[in-house]
Amino acid sequence: MKPLDVLIVGGGMITHDLLLPSIYHLKRLGRVGAITVSALNSAPLRALHESREINVAFPGMSFEALPPLSDPPERIHPELFKEALSRLAPRQAVAVAVPDAFHYDVVRDCLLHDQHVLCVKPLVLRHAQAAEIETLARERGLYVGVEYHKRFDRRSLLARRHYRDGAFGAFVMGEAKLIEPYYYRHSNFQNWFTCDKTDPFVYVGCHYVDLVWFITGIKPVGISVSGVTGRFPNGQEGYLWANGRVRYENGALLMVTAGLGYPDAASGGNDQGLLMYCEGNNRNGMVQHIDNDRGVRYTFLDADNAEGTRFRTVNPDFFRLVPWEQPGLKPTGYGYESVAANIETMIRIEAATAGLPAADALAGRRELVAEVDRQGILATPANSAINELVVEAARLSILNDGAWADIAYEPTARVALRAKG
Ligand SMILES: NC(=O)c1ccc[n+]([C@@H]2O[C@H](COP(=O)([O-])OP(=O)(O)OC[C@H]3O[C@@H](n4cnc5c(N)ncnc54)[C@H](O)[C@@H]3O)[C@@H](O)[C@H]2O)c1
Repeated sequence: MKPLDVLIVGGGMITHDLLLPSIYHLKRLGRVGAITVSALNSAPLRALHESREINVAFPGMSFEALPPLSDPPERIHPELFKEALSRLAPRQAVAVAVPDAFHYDVVRDCLLHDQHVLCVKPLVLRHAQAAEIETLARERGLYVGVEYHKRFDRRSLLARRHYRDGAFGAFVMGEAKLIEPYYYRHSNFQNWFTCDKTDPFVYVGCHYVDLVWFITGIKPVGISVSGVTGRFPNGQEGYLWANGRVRYENGALLMVTAGLGYPDAASGGNDQGLLMYCEGNNRNGMVQHIDNDRGVRYTFLDADNAEGTRFRTVNPDFFRLVPWEQPGLKPTGYGYESVAANIETMIRIEAATAGLPAADALAGRRELVAEVDRQGILATPANSAINELVVEAARLSILNDGAWADIAYEPTARVALRAKG
């Protein structure tokens, strides 16, 4: 099967921590051809290029930078990714990793340039935009995947299998939390994580809403999210904490707590987990995932090795670079598996339809994408649109001080603040 060229739009944290190392490894395995990374300016690209962690794992590998590394770091190029898009042959792969508010425009541009897309979550901030992206992709026979990597955690896949076999009963009451580290407040987040654009529920709480959907297939029908605001070091105001309640079509409730505030002095990378109680036949089932503490504890000699404190509770399951049979290190974990599964799906779609007359190839690509939609393992605009509805409802709610926002599915999906009775 022919490797795909990959363009990554956005050179920030998620590109450094997950996307670029995964794409580099896929290149080593012969699944990916040329790699380009485009960012607003050259500074993050230089940081990627010089990253010790990446260079130790992937000796001798590099990417084409757009703007080039020699470009003055203060010069901003918001439109340059379009040049990179127009240089790609049709139906290669674009990984979209820009701040949430720009996903819609960039994904749309990718599709208009006939590219398959892997977009970091959330796909977009409004359901109508997700529907538009779904239609545009279908018209052109293109694949759009949303990078909800928690779906690829073995525990999520196992829970889905058992839940759908009826082994737990029906989800009725649950709680989830994802508190990211305090130091995020000092990062580039302070430039875009403002009250008018996003909040911790939308940013990370959405992972667990997606997981409950992934495991149970029960649709959310209402949501109330309240936020706690604070100032970033640059003075901008953001929601630093959020707490939401999601009501489901069967009456179930999920409480979600999210924030940018896990103490930097604490031992883990974050605080996170999911608890679901399920009603059975005169007995109950339960699913509990303690996602921040996976039983691995290290005490390092030096803080340099420690991603923070010397004593660490380490998650070996998300994304780790480990020794392998060849030079450098290889990525392991559900983060890598999620990126690889999306790129492999694009490669498979292209391979199955290569050499067919154009109309047959288009029909074939559409059918293969529809199969992915139906399967529901990889998140696509068609099978994960509940996330856009939840995100849209959550934004309405948090900006209205926690007022309930309802989600309706018929005759067309929509979100509205609940009228005060
Ligand atoms: N768990 C997850 O799935 C997860 C984790 C972290 C981030 N994310 C998502 O990834 C996205 C990026 O997050 P991040 O933490 O990497 O942010 P970041 O602020 O570190 O990086 C954003 C990057 O986008 C680039 N960018 C912005 N506008 C651009 C444009 N017009 N053209 C080219 N590049 C442009 C910037 O140069 C920067 O390199 C967000 O949508 C976030 O929600 C997902």
